[in-house]
Amino acid sequence: MQVIYFRGQMLETSSSGSDVCQPMAGATVLLWQANFSGRYNHKGDDSALQQFPHPKTGKPMERIHDEYFQYWGKAITDEHGYFLFKTVLPSFYPATDDWYRPPHLHFSIRAKGHPEFVTQTYFKGKTLPDIGIINDLNAKDWILRDHGILPAQQEQVIVEYQPDPEGKLTDGLLGSCQLLLPT
Ligand SMILES: [Fe+2]
Repeated sequence: MQVIYFRGQMLETSSSGSDVCQPMAGATVLLWQANFSGRYNHKGDDSALQQFPHPKTGKPMERIHDEYFQYWGKAITDEHGYFLFKTVLPSFYPATDDWYRPPHLHFSIRAKGHPEFVTQTYFKGKTLPDIGIINDLNAKDWILRDHGILPAQQEQVIVEYQPDPEGKLTDGLLGSCQLLLPT
């Protein structure tokens, strides 16, 4: 199981001009995700699906409920708009017979003066396990590659994970991302 940290910074466009962004303090960030074996812990998860074929090798992979994993988290952004989650790398999982979702984190952000903002972030980085498969699945994911999302916007939510450049977080890989709240 790969421990990860996600450090986000919420931004909003400045009231002084739409090209300028400023940190959004006090926003509520809700995270939910699959666990290390591609299972969720909500009603939408098909708990009868106890294994699925590996997308490359076809080898059966066990889908296991982890009672020690919370599957979700909540944070409030600080005065500079930052929030930090410590969690685990979620697995890919089958969405249909011929479509595997790449590993991803779901976010819902609520902030004063903004509509609820719901998004997903994805993974890249050469130190991540299974990065070859992750890159392949990222390339053909129907949600990430939706034609309504500009390629530059797609790349913004594929977050690079690496050892903490400051060396403070030593038990996991760190990904950092800025998220701009729609007005
Ligand atoms: Fe999902």
